[in-house]
Amino acid sequence: MNKELVVVIDFGGQYNQLVARRVRECNVYCEIYSYKTDLQKIKEMHPKGIILTGGPNSCYEEGAPTCTEELFKMGIPVLGLCYGAQLMQHVLGGKVERASMREYGKTEVIFNPDAALFAGVSEAEGGRDRTIVWMSHFDYISRLADGFETIAHTDNCPVAAAQNEAAGLYAIQFHPEVLHTAQGKTMLFNFVRNICGCAGDWRMDSFVEHTIADIRQKVGDGRVLLALSGGVDSSVLAGLLSKAIGKQLTCVFVDHGLLRKNEGDEVESVFGQGGQFDLNFVRVNAQERYYGKLAGVTEPERKRKIIGEEFIRVFEEEAKKIGTVDFLAQGTIYPDVVESGLGGESAVIKSHHNVGGLPDYVDFKEILEPLRSLFKDEVRQVGLEIGLPEHLVFRQPFPGPGLGVRIIGEVTAEKVKIVQDADAIYREEIAKAGLDREYNQYFAALTNMRSVGVMGDERTYDYAIALRAVKTIDFMTAEAANIPWEVLQTVMSRIINEVRGVNRVLYDISSKPPGTIELE
Ligand code: XMP
Repeated sequence: MNKELVVVIDFGGQYNQLVARRVRECNVYCEIYSYKTDLQKIKEMHPKGIILTGGPNSCYEEGAPTCTEELFKMGIPVLGLCYGAQLMQHVLGGKVERASMREYGKTEVIFNPDAALFAGVSEAEGGRDRTIVWMSHFDYISRLADGFETIAHTDNCPVAAAQNEAAGLYAIQFHPEVLHTAQGKTMLFNFVRNICGCAGDWRMDSFVEHTIADIRQKVGDGRVLLALSGGVDSSVLAGLLSKAIGKQLTCVFVDHGLLRKNEGDEVESVFGQGGQFDLNFVRVNAQERYYGKLAGVTEPERKRKIIGEEFIRVFEEEAKKIGTVDFLAQGTIYPDVVESGLGGESAVIKSHHNVGGLPDYVDFKEILEPLRSLFKDEVRQVGLEIGLPEHLVFRQPFPGPGLGVRIIGEVTAEKVKIVQDADAIYREEIAKAGLDREYNQYFAALTNMRSVGVMGDERTYDYAIALRAVKTIDFMTAEAANIPWEVLQTVMSRIINEVRGVNRVLYDISSKPPGTIELE
């Protein structure tokens, strides 16, 4: 496996995963560690470079996250970003103070085109020594530590970037990881590829090759069980495992009757008999069981709990039929690792775990998580590498409890059918309008509201469908998308004409917060 590593040290800033993702986009592998991680441990990883992230604190305050001077004296290049830049100066004897005014938003910096960090930036800017960057800070570096020189400034910020080239130390006050920083990626590329000297051989085709070999070696002639949901992560995992170990893999796909229209069959056509992958595929049609358990239940948390528990029951029964397996495969990906506090420092509120508790219910010896180090976009690339169909690779996020949380109030087979049909029409029209990659998540939900309408000469008393479409980066906050009126009208008239039981279509324009993305 490729061992060229850059370590990202997390000081709690909101963009920290983004830093790591950008480094990976430079084809350099990196991992995020909390600032509390023992320096010895980091040394033993032999990183080619270290990046200190931003963070919400003031580095001169008592108890603020810090690091030792030794970190800067190991002969490994270090790049400090925002808080990381200030901390570097503070620890090495410079001075950081509170500015009279916060500098926030897009800002023009004047940089030294000869500095290694800014190589290529002036060409991209048409020969100028100015570029737009994203600033977000109160504190500023008022005096540099010995050996440093300023390589960029703004009207309000005397040190927007600094370097001590001989020592391999670099400090940037702004956020190159954020897309608003026009040449941010070039700057990070300059650091990891030119300054740290990483070769840039982190690529998904070689990941696939190495991982298949690793899986084969680890699994030997053992048996592997995977709960396949048809979502991106578990589908990519199934494909990868199939390539590595073929029929030693059994995938259990539970159709809980809360999937989107035709989804169960689509998953089966890819992974089932006659599909493109060599594996054992077990589909459990558990619709009736789920509807039975959900009858009369209206409270959203209760519904989620029932759906989650029932999944464990069904999966457990299937696992028992298969007997002891050696490995339970899980589609854990890097953000899960970081967000559950195992990697980084950033406090992220994560309440949606698909796999809570599962390992306790199945008889297995070891967990297998081959996608553990990948970001979502990398998982998608792996999916394309191994030949998964695009509709699976670029699938929208879909909640574990499925349509159960897109039907307000009681879930019934009839309501599931209504929301499936309406949602299918909506998705079809969004795709037809070429907007399917514009919106990060969009779907129809069934409100529990019925109202009087007229259809032909008759009065109706039918449901209102709510349409939702959001733009978001991290799904923690979101804004409603501005869907063109004509598209909304087409969707409305098709839903009302084609879906029985609906006489009104509403467009939900709430943002998150205060709304959530799902409607339940
Ligand atoms: P909300 O509605 O909380 O959703 O703004 C944020 C993102 O998470 C998805 N979501 C879930 N995913 N189990 C999941 O696996 C869940 O219970 C769940 N609830 C919401 C939602 O679709 C969106 O992408």
